[in-house]
Amino acid sequence: MAQQEVREGWRTGFGFILAAAGSAIGLGNIWRFPYITGQHGGAAFVLIYLLCVALIGLPVMLCEISLGRHTGRNPVGAFRKLNPSSCLLAHLFGAGIALCGVMALLMKSWGWGGLLLLIGVLIFKYRWTLVGVMGVVAGFVILSFYSVVAGWTIGYVFKAATGQLAFETMEAANASFVGFIGHPGWAILCHFLFMALCVVIVCRGIRGGIEKVSKLLMPVLLGLILMLIVRGLTLPEAREGVRYYLSPDFSKITPQCILQALGLAFFSLSLGMGAMITYGSYVSKGQNLFKSTLAIVGLDVLIAFLAGLAIFPAVFALGFKPDVGAGLAFVALPAVFNQMPQGLLWAFVFFLLLLVAALTSGISLLEVVVAYWVDERGWTRKKATLVFGGCIFALGCLCAASVMDWTHIQPVQRALTTMFGRTKDSFFDTMEVVSDWMLSLGGLLIALFVGWIWGVRRATNEIRQGSENFADVHLWSVLAGLKDDPSHNSDVHVITLASVWGVFVRFICPVAIVIAFLNTIGWLELKGPETIPEPEPAAIELEAETEAP
Ligand code: PFF
Repeated sequence: MAQQEVREGWRTGFGFILAAAGSAIGLGNIWRFPYITGQHGGAAFVLIYLLCVALIGLPVMLCEISLGRHTGRNPVGAFRKLNPSSCLLAHLFGAGIALCGVMALLMKSWGWGGLLLLIGVLIFKYRWTLVGVMGVVAGFVILSFYSVVAGWTIGYVFKAATGQLAFETMEAANASFVGFIGHPGWAILCHFLFMALCVVIVCRGIRGGIEKVSKLLMPVLLGLILMLIVRGLTLPEAREGVRYYLSPDFSKITPQCILQALGLAFFSLSLGMGAMITYGSYVSKGQNLFKSTLAIVGLDVLIAFLAGLAIFPAVFALGFKPDVGAGLAFVALPAVFNQMPQGLLWAFVFFLLLLVAALTSGISLLEVVVAYWVDERGWTRKKATLVFGGCIFALGCLCAASVMDWTHIQPVQRALTTMFGRTKDSFFDTMEVVSDWMLSLGGLLIALFVGWIWGVRRATNEIRQGSENFADVHLWSVLAGLKDDPSHNSDVHVITLASVWGVFVRFICPVAIVIAFLNTIGWLELKGPETIPEPEPAAIELEAETEAP
């Protein structure tokens, strides 16, 4: 590992909270959360989502931040530093996957066989460090399509500013949207602009770039969303939308939507790929990690909730339906805004809000990749940002060009189909599915690593610095893996935050994630009564298969 100069840190604890909340608050909150809530009948889904965030998201986020601060490294460096010199579990796992690869090769499935064999050998050799590697790769992959969608918001801000978003009907809005995203030139230009913004910010470093921009943009984001809420709630008939959003109908809850809520929680909280490990690595030792985690999660949930409150009353008040799927933001809302006085202004405010949210998330995705090359490879920040910003842009161009279908890049499709058999409809779909697998697997492995390998006791000792109340009162210490910790062996047996957290990290989170994961990959078909309506044509194109993490 290359020797590096003194590592930067956040200027203030508040700066860290805003930057991490900025990473968490993004398209996941303002685009995905409202449309998925709309598809699953509103309030009941919101409740389930909140439970997933509190019971799974919060414990895993504390794992990531404490791993980051303890090691002071990017995800690869963090796992490398704590990687046990031998780990039976990792060896068995690696050997098993390699064996599956050999079997696939014997069955002449060259693409999958080769890939599995390679992964198996790598796991066998590098053990837990690979979790960090997977995080860096996920940052790369996710940003390449995230930036394409974020680019659309740039296009829509421009369209709203120049009066091109006035649609009388949803059909007209849909036709315009499909035309816009299906035009590779526009999509690539907007994607370029978004990536350029990310590169400029990340180049300027932690304090001068990410922290400064987050401190500026987060209040702007809150201001924009409050403006939209006031506008929505003051429309006549807005009450219908508020009722839909806030009074739960539990008959709408299906096992499938619980899993979808869990997946959304992971994506929305930026968990499973080491973004929070990276941001945590710049935190000072005196900072209260538990309270910071609570604040980040709280802000993320608040903004998702407010986004719903900004959208649903307006949708209902103007006679639209909330269940149009992924096209809610880009198709339904322009038509909704068009019915309001000064509609273009409100459309402009909304898409600017989406852009601001996407930008603070985009920089965190790029930072994960950059931090690896700076910490582990000794590159300068500028070089790493420019080189990898460029590579991500190039991969994103494939997504942008193939968002509707493969017609623009058929040679790539043919190559992938030959190697892996049937492929998804577009490169964009493929990327989204790959990233969802990576996040869910990453979240599971991070929880298992902290719970069983690094150990809750050591993690707790890290969190204790700056948060004394976290661990100094107790009960489930044995179950939580804290029984050898002297301060958990006093005569007074009361539940501590640390012991409850330990139980979650060791048992509850991994089991829940495995269930959600199996559902994502289709090995566990949890289906309830069919309540999900058919999405709009544009929504079908965009519908990510991201039901679970
Ligand atoms: N949390 C972001 C959102 O809600 O849009 C997406 C994201 C950012 C996921 C960073 C993962 C990540 F590491």
